[in-house]
Amino acid sequence: MREWFSGECAARGLDLTEDRMGNQWAWWGDPDSSAPAGIVTGSHLDSVPDGGAFDGPLGVVSALLAIDRLKSDGFAPLRPIGVVNFVDEEGARFGVSCAGSRMITGVLSPDRARALQDADGITMAEAMRAAGWRPERLGPDPEALSRVGSFIELHIEQGRGLIDSGRAVGVGNAIWPHGRWRIDIPGEANHAGTTRLSDRRDAVIGCARAVLAARAAAETHGGLATIGKINIQPGGVNAIASSATAWLDARAADEPALRAIVAHIEKDVANSGAVVTEESWTPQTGFDSVLISRMASLIDGAPVMGTGAGHDAGILANAGVPAAMIFVRNPTGVSHSPSEWAEPEDCLAGVAALAAVLADLAGVQR
Ligand code: HGY
Ligand code: MN
Ligand code: MN
Repeated sequence: MREWFSGECAARGLDLTEDRMGNQWAWWGDPDSSAPAGIVTGSHLDSVPDGGAFDGPLGVVSALLAIDRLKSDGFAPLRPIGVVNFVDEEGARFGVSCAGSRMITGVLSPDRARALQDADGITMAEAMRAAGWRPERLGPDPEALSRVGSFIELHIEQGRGLIDSGRAVGVGNAIWPHGRWRIDIPGEANHAGTTRLSDRRDAVIGCARAVLAARAAAETHGGLATIGKINIQPGGVNAIASSATAWLDARAADEPALRAIVAHIEKDVANSGAVVTEESWTPQTGFDSVLISRMASLIDGAPVMGTGAGHDAGILANAGVPAAMIFVRNPTGVSHSPSEWAEPEDCLAGVAALAAVLADLAGVQR
């Protein structure tokens, strides 16, 4: 996907650079010129396991097509226009979402990132070296960020907001606070056929309690909690588990409710000896109100809407970069699944909206 992106940018004469985390930035115009900082759009190209085809790629492809449209309209931007491919937005391998944008904004420390391990115990540093990257380069990248005057991320909608409003395109104004927690449950390995029930310390029982506690906590506090990944060791059908790890994804409309969900779960799993560790946290995120109103006025009839899905635009917004989002209707309302879908005409409506926003923000040579 990275090579594909490089090729598409080269074909358009965009100047491609990589920052200290390997995020790819392609520029129409000199981002270091005296002009005001650039207008950047784009998204990510990585996915969750067995995810859909639009979450991430739609934003990158739409950015390239919006630039095609502006060029064919003879548009000559007063400010540089950039397209970014953020790495590791889903955190699918190493567990931290938006790792690319968190790294360059200083939210994810280089030491912590290098030590993150995948399911096989391979660290991010080892994986980077194997891919020809130098993990010692990792760190905040204020130079890359200084080139971003505004960031507009186009993304497929991952819920039903646009279906219910009957609109193809919406403007994103907020992201719910959300986070990920690792729940480690101890057990005692033993024989499934000879160990009396009263003698067992079965980690999977504690794991099951965590799953049910997550749902109960979400219902109690009006938020969302999901355990979609569990690792049971040693994983023998006839062996009582020696340990279990469950990963919690929790989200809510406000931070007190989110904290209450996690505290509820921690209390419910305490008696199984579980250790709950926060692995990532994204605060309540509000996008730039000036950008939002400009975009809503440019995109006829676009509803302004929040989302429970995290995005790199949220990480940049929380780092002080003026940012906002454009959502494109997903008639299934389903995401992080192969069922995720967007109709071609809605995708093209998204490209037209993005092109209009870029033209407005980047200005045009008279
Ligand atoms: O998990 C999320 O909200 C996003 O897809 N990374
Ligand atoms: Mn996603
Ligand atoms: Mn995404």
